[in-house]
Amino acid sequence: MSKTLLVTGIGELTVNDPQAVDNSSAPDPLADAAFVIEDGRVAWYGPARKAPEADGRIDVRGKAVIPGFVDSHAHLVFAGDRAAEFAARMTGTPYSAGGIRTTVAATRAADDDQLRANVRRLVHEMAKQGTTTVECKTGYGLTLEDELRALRIAKEECDAATFLGAHVVPAEYADRRADYVDLVRGPMLDACAEYADYVDVFCERGAYDEAETRLILDAAKARGIPVRLHANQLGHGPGVQLAVEYAAASADHCTYLSERDIEALACSETVATLLPGVEFSTRSPYPDARALLDAGASVAIATDCNPGSCYTSSMPFCLALAVREMHMSPGEALRATTLGGAEALRREDVGHLAVGARADFAVLEAPSFLHLAYRPGVPLIHSVWKNGERVG
Ligand code: NIG
Ligand code: FE
Repeated sequence: MSKTLLVTGIGELTVNDPQAVDNSSAPDPLADAAFVIEDGRVAWYGPARKAPEADGRIDVRGKAVIPGFVDSHAHLVFAGDRAAEFAARMTGTPYSAGGIRTTVAATRAADDDQLRANVRRLVHEMAKQGTTTVECKTGYGLTLEDELRALRIAKEECDAATFLGAHVVPAEYADRRADYVDLVRGPMLDACAEYADYVDVFCERGAYDEAETRLILDAAKARGIPVRLHANQLGHGPGVQLAVEYAAASADHCTYLSERDIEALACSETVATLLPGVEFSTRSPYPDARALLDAGASVAIATDCNPGSCYTSSMPFCLALAVREMHMSPGEALRATTLGGAEALRREDVGHLAVGARADFAVLEAPSFLHLAYRPGVPLIHSVWKNGERVG
């Protein structure tokens, strides 16, 4: 018989039961709640006074419990940092995709152990802040060997690994872009297919145009690999429409959206993944989260943790930005950082604490999840659990 663990004394439990909440409704937390963990999954939840007997018991003494954050967009396989670029940006130099090449040079020069250690450091940093599911992209290697090793490390250290060989065109291919696109959609994808949960393309001026993006998405589809897209980050463009056309799991950034883009997302299964840490760190206008939510689109919030456009690993920080700067209610922002992220990764077992879900949760040093936005910058994560085991 497997051992059971009762978590009780929960002042406020956010379950996010996918059967009970619709696409974009905010969570409805339970007061004085408890739940039971068995084999790393939620076996029961409900009022504490009705809790069944269990082999072990933890009393969280009135603290709030939320599902672990699902960070569905991060770039963790890199070396070096770009603090000087950030400082220049804060005094007026605009962000451009070209900065990625600085990190490509540092990443190529690093050995596997250094890259793996960097990923572990950031995953640990994320866990301390309540994140229990992490997606990680490649994109700072841009040779077959460097992309393959990045993807293998991402696959081993994170919960989802995304091949982003089409991040920018590397400098050595600047005069023969088509050859690089052929490399990505041919030999690179062949080598990486085994490890890639997703294929992503940075569809943006300064990165990949519509025709190039289509070639790579077609190659992914031909191999049966699901896709996601960096779309409409630096300006209006074809990214969101392509994401919807190709049934991408998510269209990420969505900073510049037309009415047509919003409508297309609202009528699709493609999740709009907003990354407000990027707008904060690049001093850019925030995406119109309200228009997306009001139109009925599915919205996720993620960090985009990377050394260039946004070097935060903190989902609580992004949640607070979503509330303050994008006019999401605290409940909508909590949903977008948990269940929304799970939807963006097409995962049904995380982002909520209904029966059968993975027992991935954060105990807050607060009586309510509202404090995550109400007390920005304050370390409110008391403890973090993944598969029923304490990880932070
Ligand atoms: O999501 N937009 C493309 N990629 C990253 C930035 C990478 C970088 O600047 O190093 C992003 O913002
Ligand atoms: Fe990104």
